[in-house]
Amino acid sequence: MSKSFREGGTESVVLRDASLELAAAQTTSIIGASGSGKSTLLGVIAGLLQPESGRVFYDGCDVTGLDDRARARLRAGPIGMVLQSDNLIPFLNAVENVELAIAIGGAGRARRRASALLSDLGLAQRLHHRPGQLSGGEAQRVAVAVALANDPTLLLADEATGELDAATAERTMGLILDVSHQRALTLLYVTHNRQFAEEAPHQLRLVDGEVGPA
Ligand SMILES: Nc1ncnc2c1ncn2[C@@H]1O[C@H](COP(=O)(O)OP(=O)(O)OP(=O)(O)O)[C@@H](O)[C@H]1O
Ligand SMILES: [Mg+2]
Repeated sequence: MSKSFREGGTESVVLRDASLELAAAQTTSIIGASGSGKSTLLGVIAGLLQPESGRVFYDGCDVTGLDDRARARLRAGPIGMVLQSDNLIPFLNAVENVELAIAIGGAGRARRRASALLSDLGLAQRLHHRPGQLSGGEAQRVAVAVALANDPTLLLADEATGELDAATAERTMGLILDVSHQRALTLLYVTHNRQFAEEAPHQLRLVDGEVGPA
């Protein structure tokens, strides 16, 4: 696939001929220099961005051929995403953030399910804290809960631990890896941390707009 951004009169090509295949129910890491296009690649895979050429297939379905609503439905269901920061709605507390995601996905008993999911992630005592009242690591665990809210089969994590201290980053990364393994999710995560990247059985690197082995 290819993707470029036009700003003013200049066009910068971010993804040139990027091609990758994710093994179902397996974990893949991707590294690459800042600005190499990792977030752009995840955005295209999640259907947030449309590539200029190329296609994204999810479970046999051409995501790039879907309209905006259908792509949004994928993100409210089978595709979960954790970003580096700003994952949460600041004026909703932890359980409301997760409850909203479940309600958008259309499942019932949202509050109960949200509480159970947060408790599973060790946040039973933080249900009613708003994002600003949570530590960075706690907020990222709520973000993981939001991403898992609708039982996705594909989890995309974009530097989910980027803003955390080393110990909290390690715990959060461990949690994402464990949950993905337990639920047999297909996981693709971006990281700048070589050690984290090496924990994945499949390791990729984005360089010059192309995806290759790490
Ligand atoms: N909406 C946009 N409009 C214009 N340029 C953009 C846009 N989004 C990304 N870019 C450019 O595309 C390039 C790749 O950005 P991207 O965020 O994908 O990099 P990245 O690999 O995720 O970097 P980092 O490791 O710093 O997060 C950058 O040069 C960036 O300026
Ligand atoms: Mg990025």
